[in-house]
Amino acid sequence: MKKLTILVYISIVLGIINLVLIYILSGFSLFGKHLFHPKKKEDVAEIRGMVVFHTYCVLCHGEKGDGTGRLATGKIPPPANLTKTILNDEQMKAIIRGGGSSVGRSEFMPPWGDELSEGQINDLIKFINVLKAK
Ligand code: HEC
Repeated sequence: MKKLTILVYISIVLGIINLVLIYILSGFSLFGKHLFHPKKKEDVAEIRGMVVFHTYCVLCHGEKGDGTGRLATGKIPPPANLTKTILNDEQMKAIIRGGGSSVGRSEFMPPWGDELSEGQINDLIKFINVLKAK
């Protein structure tokens, strides 16, 4: 192979390595779009909310939030179907913080104000709103 051809090959390879490095250093973003990271802060909050929901709420409200968790059988009233809730964000926060009895509803819905931070409750609301939209 001629010297010139080898030099051309080397510069092409270096160019590709350079592009990959720029891509990695820019946080895996291409033309401003993140490929591997969730796109918005909102998405991250929803994912955090999903984790909290799966830890504390699925037993009663079920994986999909439709009120069919393992502890739901035979309960009157049954755990609410959160995918169809008509409560607004503030009303949901109130019942999550203080439990059912704090808003004149069933005490089978426990209070979470001591266990969960305000941030976690806000994340939960975001996640429930995603369930509602599905
Ligand atoms: C031990 C079972 C149980 C657990 C665990 C539980 N809930 Fe509930 N939840 C209920 C019941 C029962 C109701 C219905 C109360 C009523 O209608 O009087 C309810 C109602 C609600 C409501 C009101 C919805 C509406 O439309 O009226 C919200 C919001 C809610 N739960 C959120 C949560 C969240 C978030 C968690 C997890 C942090 C959670 N619940 C954990 C049993 C539970």
